[in-house]
Amino acid sequence: MNNAIDTEGTVSGSSIVVVGAQLGDEGKGKIVDFLAEGVDIVVRYNGGCNAGHTVKVGNKTFKFHLIPSGVIQEKIAVIGNGVVIDPKVLVGEIETLKSEGIQLNLLISHRAHVTMPYHRVFDEGKEKKRGGEKIGTTGKGIGPTYADKMKRTESITILDLVSEQFSKKLSKVLELKVSELLEFKLIKNKDGLENYKQKIIEEYSSYAEKIKEFVSDTSLFLNKSLDEGKIVLFEGAQGTLLDVDHGTYPFVTSSNATAGGACTGTGVGPKRINRIIGVVKAYTTRVGSGPFPTESTDKTGYFLRERGGEYGTTTGRPRRCGWLDTVILKYAKRINSLDELALTKLDVLSGMRKLKICTAYELNGKVINEFPASIEELEKCKPLYVELDGWEELERNEWKEIARKGFEALPKNVKTYVNKIKEIIKIPITIISIGPSREETIIWKN
Ligand code: IMP
Repeated sequence: MNNAIDTEGTVSGSSIVVVGAQLGDEGKGKIVDFLAEGVDIVVRYNGGCNAGHTVKVGNKTFKFHLIPSGVIQEKIAVIGNGVVIDPKVLVGEIETLKSEGIQLNLLISHRAHVTMPYHRVFDEGKEKKRGGEKIGTTGKGIGPTYADKMKRTESITILDLVSEQFSKKLSKVLELKVSELLEFKLIKNKDGLENYKQKIIEEYSSYAEKIKEFVSDTSLFLNKSLDEGKIVLFEGAQGTLLDVDHGTYPFVTSSNATAGGACTGTGVGPKRINRIIGVVKAYTTRVGSGPFPTESTDKTGYFLRERGGEYGTTTGRPRRCGWLDTVILKYAKRINSLDELALTKLDVLSGMRKLKICTAYELNGKVINEFPASIEELEKCKPLYVELDGWEELERNEWKEIARKGFEALPKNVKTYVNKIKEIIKIPITIISIGPSREETIIWKN
């Protein structure tokens, strides 16, 4: 096995999955960028342009929605079959990267499905109709694209998009969509269908031209690369509780954001996965609707949002914030078979006198340790906390100095906070991020 990223004795293995252990926005982009230095290939396996990954390099900030974050390290970037691709967004990202002079080594799965212009309209329209029962989607057309994929007859794949058959395939799909197109006023009557189709063909054919050189059998490529001893990093989008099967359904996204998605979403079998890293933010956030037991709507929530810059990368929406919830983390450990944790944004907690960590819930007078499937039950759960002492504010250069020295240089109360999490979850915390830049990262051998 190739252990080329085992430079500090921490991260080894030839295929590593990086997965969100909470509700997305855990800082996966930074962790992937950090690890990408030691890998050959970075692969996205789920979601679409609902995801937003922010990576800071020097004084530049990059925001990606579709292309894996590792592309900044000029690694081979793969978009797997489990991703839904909005070609307009993808072409925009390709052009941005080219204009930044970043060498682009991109492969796009021919089996991935395409987000069409009507998917966005359906997504927003359906949300409006839900009234007070909104999911709080990003409005990027993700749910409707995956729904069409599952229907089997109403979806366009990347293979269709770049083939000669695109127009014929689109006609068939649009015929099946007439009532929805009428409902959401995309056509006035059935006669408007041809004109609507021509407009899509014109726009999407130009995207097809720009992406077709990247389209290939990415499962074949990834498996061959693993055979050759290459190191592959699988980058999950969103987080465990937004997974369509294991999350807080129906307040979830429409894909498998958990580690299992790395296999189905890329065509690499489970036996080939060596290591699974759960990314955890030092507190909890959620965008969109759905239960959130440790949510704080008072000054703690406000502090975390403003200090942590907790506003959506994709939509700019303020994120709901609250204390760290280890019931969620223990659940994430089980669902994803986590080997280790990467803890992010620990610096954001500085300046708080007391810190709380949720260790269990109280439901109908009973203490529960397992994350409930029922939304109604989850809404009634009251978090049970342990309280710890906080730590003083530190300047950015002080954090950087600490990162250079390593874990032991952290203030005592920071170490106590990290050790408490480790003690509860019972897996190593191998990466600790104490700031947005690459230099503000500690590898902890524990
Ligand atoms: P959708 O994925 O746009 O359908 O949105 C479904 C739910 O997932 C909503 O609550 C969104 O706010 C949430 N969501 C989707 N993508 C992300 C993400 O990248 N980070 C955090 N939440 C997300």
